[in-house]
Amino acid sequence: MPSTDAAHRHSGAGALVIVPTYDEIENLPLIAGRLLRAVPEAHLLVVDDGSPDGTGRLADEMARDDARVHVMHRTGKLGLGSAYVQGFAWGLERGYEILVEMDADGSHPPEALPRMIARVATGTDSPSLVIGSRWIPGGTVVNWPTSRKILSRGGNLYARLALGLRIRDVTAGFRVYAADTVRAMDLDGIDSKGYCFQVDMTLRVLDGGGYVAEMPIEFRERELGESKMSQAIVVEAMRRVTRWGAERRWARLRGRR
Ligand code: GDD
Ligand code: MN
Repeated sequence: MPSTDAAHRHSGAGALVIVPTYDEIENLPLIAGRLLRAVPEAHLLVVDDGSPDGTGRLADEMARDDARVHVMHRTGKLGLGSAYVQGFAWGLERGYEILVEMDADGSHPPEALPRMIARVATGTDSPSLVIGSRWIPGGTVVNWPTSRKILSRGGNLYARLALGLRIRDVTAGFRVYAADTVRAMDLDGIDSKGYCFQVDMTLRVLDGGGYVAEMPIEFRERELGESKMSQAIVVEAMRRVTRWGAERRWARLRGRR
């Protein structure tokens, strides 16, 4: 590999890729295979919420066969946000330097991780968080129905306006964090259950003084299994983003006086 290319690609050493699962038995072996080929030195932590379809048992079998694979079992469907919070804590205790969020359903291409991780891991002025972005030039969304595109664009527009952000894909679930940035956060204080967790985390990175970069990815709608997106998740996100926006404007006003 030429050295210039090597500088932009990362083997995954020191990286923990956290993948939350709920009924992903068909997808898990596919995504794990792709991940460990793309970043062979990374470790995978599956956080399974007692999937009725047996995803957790399959993950245990994979962990027996491959020392890079780890599994956390939780008792019931406790939400994506809390799965990541517990996964982060697990990774911080074990000294990983890079923490990654990725879906199990193949929507997020693990082949993009060598470049995303390299961006966070190299240099002193590197970003604290790299978002795999659908909504910047070069990013694409494949096979999403128009309704889902509108929901995502609308959600992002609302969050951008309410919170005064410049990030184009603040709800994205494909993310690479510097572990030190996550360590500095009050993880126990995070109670966002659904996808607003992603917005919550972004605000915490920015408030901690970190900088956030976006890199374009191709997001593909899952071919197997079902999305867990629900109306409750959308409502939680709208409520919280509105509240966070009001709190932040209020804090700015008070700061000015
Ligand atoms: N452990 C656990 N517990 N895993 C969960 C839960 C839960 O309660 N809910 C969802 N997951 C897992 C799924 O099994 C999958 O691996 C991942 O979280 C994403 O869930 P999907 O249901 O596939 O999400 P999506 O495709 O609708 O939403 C994606 O786009 C959103 C923004 O538009 C995700 O990337 C979200 O993170 C993102 O906010
Ligand atoms: Mn999905």
